[in-house]
Amino acid sequence: MKLWVVLCLALLWVQLQNGACQQVKRRKDVGENRIRPGGKRVKGLPRLKDGVGKGQSLLTQVLDKGRFLRLGQTTILTPGKNMELRCKGDSIGWSYPTYLDTFNDSRLSIKHSDKYSQLVLTSPSAADTGPYSCWVIVCDGTECERDHDRTYVSYIYFTDKDNLFVPSAIHFEIVYLRPDRPAVVPCRVTDPQAKVSLHREVPPEEITANRTQVTYDPTKGFVLQNPSQEHQGVFYCKGVTKGTPQISTKYQLLYVEVPGGAPFVSLAVSPESVSGGDNINVTCSVLGEPEEDVSFTWSYPGQDRRPVRIQTSWRLVNRGMGHTTRLSQSVMAVEDVETIDFGNYICNAKNQYGETTVTIDIISK
Ligand SMILES: *[C@@H]1O[C@H](CO)[C@@H](O)[C@H](O)[C@H]1NC(C)=O
Ligand SMILES: *[C@@H]1O[C@H](CO)[C@@H](O)[C@H](O)[C@H]1NC(C)=O
Ligand SMILES: *[C@@H]1O[C@H](CO)[C@@H](O)[C@H](O)[C@H]1NC(C)=O
Repeated sequence: MKLWVVLCLALLWVQLQNGACQQVKRRKDVGENRIRPGGKRVKGLPRLKDGVGKGQSLLTQVLDKGRFLRLGQTTILTPGKNMELRCKGDSIGWSYPTYLDTFNDSRLSIKHSDKYSQLVLTSPSAADTGPYSCWVIVCDGTECERDHDRTYVSYIYFTDKDNLFVPSAIHFEIVYLRPDRPAVVPCRVTDPQAKVSLHREVPPEEITANRTQVTYDPTKGFVLQNPSQEHQGVFYCKGVTKGTPQISTKYQLLYVEVPGGAPFVSLAVSPESVSGGDNINVTCSVLGEPEEDVSFTWSYPGQDRRPVRIQTSWRLVNRGMGHTTRLSQSVMAVEDVETIDFGNYICNAKNQYGETTVTIDIISK
């Protein structure tokens, strides 16, 4: 029983609401030894299920004078005023809108202590609108993982009447439409009450949300359930709260086909016929989906004996009819070809679906 006294005191120390101690006690009874998927047994980790209602988030906002506010699924805050979030536990992970990482924003700081972890965001602005999440990290020996039952998230709106749409670093975004999955036009708003509509530029047309095919979610944007070629074009969103309507950035909606297989690879050498002393380029090319990463590996006759230069790049190619593909290339440059450089050049290209290997035999002219 002593353990519970200590735990309760600890909880009181971080000023949690009444009842929290009882809750932990009850939960303790539920699972003394927690068996996790994968058959691993973690001793002495009481499983805190979300059974007592989703409201019992461990994610809190620190208000003035040391008051705490438990955050629900959505929170509305005022930009400019520093935000401090806390999450109870001795080992806590966080996530926050990715762009705060992309730009290595010094306004964001995270500090851990024995009892809780603290996330501070100074001078938040409309652009910081997004999901903020924390979770308990459980460790089994040296192996640690996120406890999905104890993951808490709040979507925080920094409502700014001058920025009804969450500002984006990109002023003209491309949205890919694929026949097999919903597409999202990401015009998110900073005020969940805003009325938002989607508009095509040419010919001017409003696409109305209708709960089935086209829906609007203030945390995501417009979701097109079954995108088709007809949805292509330049679009923007229009939003109204009280004052004058505001317009979002523009979105280019492009329809793409889905190959969904191992890469389609071609291999070529230039110049086409090679003699000793030439400088040659061996080019391995893959055509695929715009967002699909391709990685290349090479084997070649002079491997480990001859210096070569390998350059990998990709670009988007418009193939007409609004179809866009990605051309990924790896170019191997061999200078001053010697006898040992003749033979089979093998390119292996890998994407998330599989890999393809192609060979070209370079013979002396
Ligand atoms: C991010 O900022 C920190 C401190 O300002 C600095 O130490 C670190 O090198 C930066 N990282 C990148 C990837 O720019
Ligand atoms: C919803 O809107 C889409 C696109 O405007 C339209 O194709 C579809 O028929 C509409 N569905 C209903 C149930 O109104
Ligand atoms: C090989 O590629 C480089 C860089 O792309 C280019 O400058 C050079 O002319 C090419 N050489 C041949 C023989 O194609």
